[in-house]
Amino acid sequence: MNHEMPQSESTDSTRPSWAAHELVALALTVVLAVWVVAQWSVAVQPQANTERDEKRAATMAELGMADKKALNTFGVVDESLKRYRIPIQNAMTLVVELGATNIAKEVAGRTAAPTGMKLVEIPDPDFLADVSELNDPALIAQGKTLFLTKICFTCHQNDPAVPAPAGLALGAPKFIGDFWGKERLVHKGLGGPLERVVMGPGYFAESVSAAGSGLRVLKGALTPMPPPPPVTEEEVKALMAYVRSLSQGN
Ligand code: HEC
Repeated sequence: MNHEMPQSESTDSTRPSWAAHELVALALTVVLAVWVVAQWSVAVQPQANTERDEKRAATMAELGMADKKALNTFGVVDESLKRYRIPIQNAMTLVVELGATNIAKEVAGRTAAPTGMKLVEIPDPDFLADVSELNDPALIAQGKTLFLTKICFTCHQNDPAVPAPAGLALGAPKFIGDFWGKERLVHKGLGGPLERVVMGPGYFAESVSAAGSGLRVLKGALTPMPPPPPVTEEEVKALMAYVRSLSQGN
C-alpha cells in the first residue's frame, strides 16, 4: 500500500501542471485571436460602411434632385419631335381643365399625324352594297382560299406562328392584331407626301386593284405593293371579308 502512494503522487503532480500550461497557452491564443478580429472589425468595417453610406446618400440625393427637376421645370424632351415637358403642377391643372378624354385625343392625334395632315376618305367600292356582307362565313372561307392561291400569304403574315419572308423584306404589313378600321399613314406615291387613311373597304379595294398599286404606299414599306395576280371584284370582296375577319376588333 505504502509502496504505491509516492508513484501516484508524482503522476498527479506532474500531469496537472502540464495540462495547465497547455490550457493557458490555448486561452492566450484565443484571447489574441479575439482581440485581433475585434481590432480588425473596428478598424475596417465601420470605415467601409460609412464610405458606402456616404456614396449611397450622395446618389440618392442626386436622383432626388433629378426627379424634382424633371417634375418641376420646363424642358425639352425631343427637339425633332417637338416634345417638351412642363411642371407636373401645370400638367395636373391642364388635365383637370381639358378633361382626360380630350387629352387622350390630343395625344393620339399627335402620334398619328405629326404635322396635322389630312385624313383622306376613300369611298367604299361599288361592289360592296353594305359592310354587313363581309360577315358572311361562306365569303370569308372563299377569301381564305384566295389568300393562299393569289399568294397574298407570301408577303402578308396572317398567322403569328408562320412568318412571311417576302413581306418582311419589303416591309409589307402583317394582318395580325387589331388593324381593321384603324388609321394608316401612307405616302401619296412612293416617297410622296404623307396622308392618313383608314384601313377599310375603300383602301383595301384600292390596294388590291392593279390600278391602285403604288397609288398610296404604306409608310415604312420599301416598295409599293407589286400588282397581285388579277382578281375579280367578287374575289376582292371575299379577300376583304377574310382579311377583315383576321382583325381582332371584328
Ligand atoms: C410581293 C409581296 C406582296 C404580295 C404577294 C401581296 N402584297 Fe399586299 N402589300 C405588299 C406591300 C409591300 C404593301 C405595302 C406597300 C403599299 O402599301 O403599297 C402591301 C400593302 C397591302 C395592303 C394595304 C395594307 C395596309 O395595311 O396598308 C393591302 C390591303 C394588301 N397589301 C392586300 C394584299 C392582298 C389581298 C394580296 C393578295 C391578293 C396581297 N396584298 C399580295 C406586298 C405584297
